[in-house]
Amino acid sequence: MSATLAQGAYIVAGLLFILALAGLSRHESARAGVRFGVAGMAVALVFTVFLATAGEGGSGWLGLLLIVVAMAAGAVIGLDRARKVEMTGMPELIAMLHSFVGLAAVLVGWNSSYEESPYPAIHDVEVFVGVFIGAVTFTGSIVAFLKLSARIASKPLTLPFRNQLNLAAIAVFVVLTVVYVVLPEESVFGRHLLLGVVTVLALALGWHLVASIGGGDMPVVVSMLNSYSGWAAAAAGFLLGNDLLIITGALVGSSGAYLSYIMCRAMNRSFVSVIAGGFGVESGTAASGDEDYGEHREVGAEGAAALLSGAKSVVITPGYGMAVAQAQYPVASLTKALRDKGVDVRFGIHPVAGRLPGHMNVLLAEAKVPYDIVLEMDEINDDLADTDVVLVIGANDTVNPAAAEDPNSPIAGMPVLRVWEAADVVVFKRSMATGYAGVQNPLFFRENTQMLFGDAKERVEDILRAL
Ligand code: TAP
Repeated sequence: MSATLAQGAYIVAGLLFILALAGLSRHESARAGVRFGVAGMAVALVFTVFLATAGEGGSGWLGLLLIVVAMAAGAVIGLDRARKVEMTGMPELIAMLHSFVGLAAVLVGWNSSYEESPYPAIHDVEVFVGVFIGAVTFTGSIVAFLKLSARIASKPLTLPFRNQLNLAAIAVFVVLTVVYVVLPEESVFGRHLLLGVVTVLALALGWHLVASIGGGDMPVVVSMLNSYSGWAAAAAGFLLGNDLLIITGALVGSSGAYLSYIMCRAMNRSFVSVIAGGFGVESGTAASGDEDYGEHREVGAEGAAALLSGAKSVVITPGYGMAVAQAQYPVASLTKALRDKGVDVRFGIHPVAGRLPGHMNVLLAEAKVPYDIVLEMDEINDDLADTDVVLVIGANDTVNPAAAEDPNSPIAGMPVLRVWEAADVVVFKRSMATGYAGVQNPLFFRENTQMLFGDAKERVEDILRAL
């Protein structure tokens, strides 16, 4: 009875999760999407706890008490972290959370290896796959967390034969899985030894996969790990015989993979090379940091205001620096002031501007910039040549002409906003420092570019005053 009830509830929860994903795909419906997700998770939790504690075979009141205590402790820590996290720290928080999913899948796998199943061969494969994906996700996410929070250097680790090493690890995993399946149940020590070897192998593979990826490609890695964590959860769902975990894991796994695919296209990386890992620098690329680019020109807030007053069309391309400075509010006021004067103001958003997908869109929506003037890179790139002034606010890599023009640049091939085609470009940043990818930006030395140094928020406020 309780099992049937829970199955029904799981279908409802699964549908709510699908509605959540559908809702999150558009600004206007995102709030409703989040509510569907919360409702689905509430249904899932209540009925899973009910199934685990009530009725025959349930763990009873003591089990319920243990679950409530564990959940309360988790909720306190989770709420505290979520409340304190800055928008810019989001990717590393997500990476850390993925590592928990991976660890959970490893523990579920090990636990399951002690259980008997009516289908021993399939069960053995499930245990191995679950532990393998879980362990890769666990260490991969930890390395991503360490890199994103700058606790370790973000440059790629380039071991010789790194791709072959990864492929060899996968091949060894497949062979060991077959041995595990054919090994008789009685050889308890041998089976646990194999599982132990695979766990260590997968932990090392996860570490190596992410360690060998360079900083500029980190966004794809985070979304790839999101996908891996989904598949790890789905594998745990098979082991626990929990349909909802399988559905949810598959939703996370496939949406994460699709997001990675979209991001790969935006960064001109091949999807297959991301899944295989070990990319980030191609052989023969040289850091172009030491090259002499000539002199840069500077402008003050008044000069920039004068430039804007004479402009008919303005495009603003924000980046990570706008998020750091929290400049979105004065930027929104500047937009309004210019639009009131009849200037055509639009925003050009690079798919990986900032530090997480949709980062700039969220900030601009927060500051109430109208959605219809916030355009994607592909929608605005062809219009930049006819634009009078481009304001580059705290963006760097995403507007780097070297990506389009210098085949030796480490970010060569990454599609960028072609801001240099506009009549005038004003770059807001604090110094001549490089951006996330650590590459110098020739845009700053172009004839039509002027640097406006200082904190982006203060400088935009200065321009507002001058206007
Ligand atoms: P970045 O290339 O990271 O450059 C940001 C610039 O903002 C820096 O050059 C910095 O220069 C400036 N800045 C920082 N604080 C500032 C402040 N308070 N006021 C004014 N300027 C400030 O930014 P981007 O163009 O947005 O590119 C994003 C990069 O991050 C890409 O390489 C991307 O691959 C990577 N990434 C993206 C994601 C996602 S999913 N979006 C996730 C991880 C990594 P100063 O220090 O001189 O001020």
